[in-house]
Formats: sequence, C-alpha cells, structure tokens
Amino acid sequence: MLAIIGGTGLTQLDNLEITRRLIVRTPYGEPSQPLVFGKIAGRDVVFLARHGSGHTIAPHKVNYRANISALHLQGVTEIAAVATVGGIHAELTPGSIAMPHQIIDYTHGRNATFFDGVDLPVKHIDFTEPYCPKLRKKWQQAAIAIGEPLIDHGVYATTQGPRLETAAEIDRLERDGATMVGMTGMPEAALARELGISYAVICPIANHAAGRGSSLHSIQYEEVVDNLNLTMQRVRNLIVQLVKQA
Ligand code: HPA
Repeated sequence: MLAIIGGTGLTQLDNLEITRRLIVRTPYGEPSQPLVFGKIAGRDVVFLARHGSGHTIAPHKVNYRANISALHLQGVTEIAAVATVGGIHAELTPGSIAMPHQIIDYTHGRNATFFDGVDLPVKHIDFTEPYCPKLRKKWQQAAIAIGEPLIDHGVYATTQGPRLETAAEIDRLERDGATMVGMTGMPEAALARELGISYAVICPIANHAAGRGSSLHSIQYEEVVDNLNLTMQRVRNLIVQLVKQA
C-alpha cells in the first residue's frame, strides 16, 4: 500500500475519501497522529501528517521511528512524502516544487535508526542513493501527465531547526552542495530504507533561504507558510495523479 506523509501546509488531503482512522502503537511510541486510511481515485492510501493534525509537533520532536514503524506495521510498501523547504539555488524560487535526488543530514540528537543494537541488531544500510528511483520516476510521470513543472533534482540539506538558518549557514550549505534546506528530510528517509520501504519526497519551496533573494535580511516564516496554499493545491493534484498511476 502507498502512504502519503504530509508536512507543513499539508496536514490533510481534501481528495481523500476517509474510511477509517487508526491509532497505532509501536515499540517506539505513537506516531504523530492516528493513521488516516481512505481512497483517492478508488485506490487505497494511508495519510499521515508529520507534524500532527494540528501542526503542533516541531521538526526535531517528530517521532520519526514511530511514524515509519506504524506505516510498516500496516503493510505500507511505498511512501510518497511532501516536505516544505527553503530554496538555496536560484532555480528554486518560492512556489516551485522540487524533487531532491540527494540529502545531507545536519540534524543531531534525533532517534535516527531502528538498528541501534537495542531493538534490532546493528546493521549498516546502503544509502548511496537515498530516494527510491522507481518512486521518483512515478512522481516525474505524474508531473508530466498533469503539466506540472516539477524540478526533478536537488540536494536537500536537513537542518535541526526549529529556528531558521543564518545567512552564513546557508552559504556553508551551498558550499557543501545543497540546493534546498528543510528540517524534516532526515531521519525519515533513512528509516524508511531501513525497513525496506520505497521512499521519495517532493518539496514545495516556501521561501528563499536566509540571505537569498527576498530573504536577504529576514524571513517572515508564518507569512510565507500562509502563502503556501496555491502551491499545495498543485501538490495535491500531483498526489492524485501519482495514486492513479500506482
Ligand atoms: N529553512 C529550513 N526549513 C525550511 C525553510 C528554510 O528556509 N523553509 C521551509 N522549511
């Protein structure tokens, strides 16, 4: 089954015909919200809002292990994720949607593995290509089918948050090769890989990253997020098309 994980600006899916909500307990605790099961275009999907249904869970406090474990326990084999980011590269302007092909993890103190030698033995997964190429292709095909100009590459820097970055930090991320910055890309992608779940993310660009473009001197984050609605409608259209194709 396909799961959709929604981030900032996508706490529910309007086009989901909900059939049931399920509280799932996992060895790692409870996920961000009860899993929402339903149908899109006649197909079964499950939806999970990463920050909870009322967007109350900060990026560093999300129980990523419980989220991924709960989906796995329910038989999820593919996760199509949405994570809002700031654009570092000039190509990634607010309102565009990008699908990264790589990640750099700058987070700390998060429970980032199932294989910590406590619940499961130590194991080192391959993560050379962090996103599932087949699922990326499906996102791409969905974008082509509905004429959405999805930018199909990018390097996602995951920062700890919840504060936004300094301009110098963004300069450093850019020197490292990052083209976009968000707070939730990791450990979500790695945990999915650990459990053998296909995972790929699309990233609506909410703002220019700190020190860039219209964010030269400051970022009015709440305003920026309020303005995400139009982009999120395009994200919803992409999701419907992805599900139809699945
Ligand atoms: N930085 C980090 N995370 C974000 C940003 C940003 O500029 N915009 C949206 N999520």
